[in-house]
Amino acid sequence: MELKNDRLLRALARQSVDRTPVWMMRQAGRYLPEYRQVRGEAGSFMDLCRDQDRACEVTLQPLERYPLDGAILFSDILTIPDAMGLGLYFETGEGPKFRKPVRTPADVEALVAPDAERDLDYVMRAVATIRRELGGRVPLIGFSGSPWTLATYMVEGASSKDFRHIKTMLYDTPDTMHRLLDTLAHAVTDYLNAQIRAGAQVVQIFDTWGGSLTTPAYLEFSLRYMEQIVAGLIREHEGRRVPVILFTKNGGQWLENMATAGADALGLDWSTELSDARARVGRRVALQGNLDPNVLFARPAAIRAEVARILDSYGAGPGHIFNLGHGISQFTDPAHVTAFMDALHELSPAYHRQ
Ligand code: CP3
Repeated sequence: MELKNDRLLRALARQSVDRTPVWMMRQAGRYLPEYRQVRGEAGSFMDLCRDQDRACEVTLQPLERYPLDGAILFSDILTIPDAMGLGLYFETGEGPKFRKPVRTPADVEALVAPDAERDLDYVMRAVATIRRELGGRVPLIGFSGSPWTLATYMVEGASSKDFRHIKTMLYDTPDTMHRLLDTLAHAVTDYLNAQIRAGAQVVQIFDTWGGSLTTPAYLEFSLRYMEQIVAGLIREHEGRRVPVILFTKNGGQWLENMATAGADALGLDWSTELSDARARVGRRVALQGNLDPNVLFARPAAIRAEVARILDSYGAGPGHIFNLGHGISQFTDPAHVTAFMDALHELSPAYHRQ
């Protein structure tokens, strides 16, 4: 099936486009009433992820409302630890939890990387279903968590603010930490390659918690494993390059290091200026970002001013993919997203005239 809108792929390759492509992290989710409807019918969140038709339906919902240039697989980063048998569950209002956290060297030794095609077959079925239903409208983005970010949930057993258990592991028993991250890097590589074979045309690695580390620890325990993954990915499929996006939240100070990891693009949160990022690494990679999702709570005129400021910060020319600096909040008014899209479509073409 021919791709009708290739703006996202062109921008990732730093080729010229008519306007800045856009997608939003967590674009399918609770801020949309139609999502809450399907989610309610499905049962639990994981039941929704396991149901390929409903997962496809919610993936496409934001595309029906907004002129987005990409679809992102509806799933979660915690599918891998779930497939490792850690007993994932979601407690309302408290986020993800594991019944069997990984704490000791023996726990780490006992872990086996899942076989993605077999143990995560429901994800691959969702990818194939979405790809078919998209009919070439826009490219499909697959994703995974980074080994470090997956490990934080597995070792803490839940969301954490201080990363008490995993930092104890990192500093007390670095060999055990490396063993866990290496197992996860193999699992993520296999998982993303399976998504690519099933139809994902771009992949993003979410390193949500890399920014909690010191610089040497980030390089040794997070970036190194993302590099290992990128080196093992299928980079061409169906006659096209499969671009890779690396997103380390709060990783702005490490962009030069990230730019040499082999990825095509870096995702930025709002704490780094795009102008600054572009000056530092723009010749090597495309840049994705970076509207503070909380700006979407403000009135449309304020949203528009922030969109204008971000476009201006990146400046003229290709290589910018507009996105939020992190996932959209469940409390966002969908009409404010319309204001965001309207502003972008009105203001961005001026940055692409040759
Ligand atoms: O972007 C998209 O539209 C694709 C879907 C997607 C989800 N999770 C759906 C989801 C993606 C890309 C993710 C990634 C993810 N999951 C990350 C990395 C990105 C980031 O936000 O930093 C992380 C850290 C997770 C772990 C996770 N899963 C959390 C913290 C939560 C929220 C728990 C809560 O109760 O709010 C989830 C659940 C989750 N994943 C929801 C959605 C839409 C909400 C579940 C629901 O409907 O109840």
